[in-house]
Amino acid sequence: MKITRLFCAAMVMVFLLAAVGCAPAATPAPAAPAAAEKKTYKDMTLCYPQLGAESDWRTANSASFKETAEKLGVKLIFSDAQQKQENQISAMRACIQQGVSVIALPPVVETGWDAVLQEAKDANIPVIVVDRSVTADPSMYAAHIGSDMVIEGKRAAEEFNKLLPNGGNILELSGTTGSGAAVGRAKGFREALNANIKILDSQTGNFTRAEGKPVMEAFLKKYAGQIQGVFFHNDDMAIGAVEAIKAAGMKPGDLKMVSIDGTRGGFQLMIDGWLQADVECNPLLGPQVMDLALKLMNGETIAKEALTDESVFYPDKAAELLPTRKY
Ligand code: AHR
Repeated sequence: MKITRLFCAAMVMVFLLAAVGCAPAATPAPAAPAAAEKKTYKDMTLCYPQLGAESDWRTANSASFKETAEKLGVKLIFSDAQQKQENQISAMRACIQQGVSVIALPPVVETGWDAVLQEAKDANIPVIVVDRSVTADPSMYAAHIGSDMVIEGKRAAEEFNKLLPNGGNILELSGTTGSGAAVGRAKGFREALNANIKILDSQTGNFTRAEGKPVMEAFLKKYAGQIQGVFFHNDDMAIGAVEAIKAAGMKPGDLKMVSIDGTRGGFQLMIDGWLQADVECNPLLGPQVMDLALKLMNGETIAKEALTDESVFYPDKAAELLPTRKY
């Protein structure tokens, strides 16, 4: 009887010890290795060293980045280089020092980026080239997203081929010298222009209204009575030039004119009869760039080149479309 009681007491002790954890526990199954945390927009610091504020297109491009960043919760480091490459390079270097997630670079000109692209690469910060192109080797940056400037130039030339079927003399107001936009548009324009249309002169108006006007004034003095048309690399220069053309006493339609961008200002010129066609160049790149940047942060593979789908606008639909234009 005594032995039985002792045995029972021992059994109760063993049970209690096991219950409070004193008994040797079973080896827990090894925890599964933590899957790599997927980054979200909230983890992103995006550097955007904007090249300037030279045109309505550029204003819309800046707004697209600011609004998209705000909406998605991306921390945006935005600067304005005032059309100076050295300012863009300094802004990029500051971003590299801060260790941003991604740099999106809209290069003011095509050349001279190799050193700073190498610095970003050494710091493991991917660079997405936005809008205009660079001449650096594609291995130096992650991707380029923007318009095909050569195709835009070709589209403008095709419009002149229709507007001047019997040929004629035209002038070109080109964009910033050395910029991917000016180089590509001039190239495509010359490739597609009919042989019977002659470009008498080409001068830069630096993509601005302020510079477009005096260039046009000088053109009108020099080529009075000799020209049938003008090709503008952007709408802002066209708007500035139209002021000079009006001041010279000319009327809408006296010169055939084609521009690039498709801004509200360009649409108004079509409604008023000055512009016969406006080739689209889309500045609203914020959402696409941030999507690509997030993919890069998560180690996903992205296409090296993403070209924007664009078209040509004409006066017949300009009044109807103007209220729908976002820039
Ligand atoms: O690079 C795009 C060009 O730059 C736009 O056509 C022009 O308006 C802007 O300044």
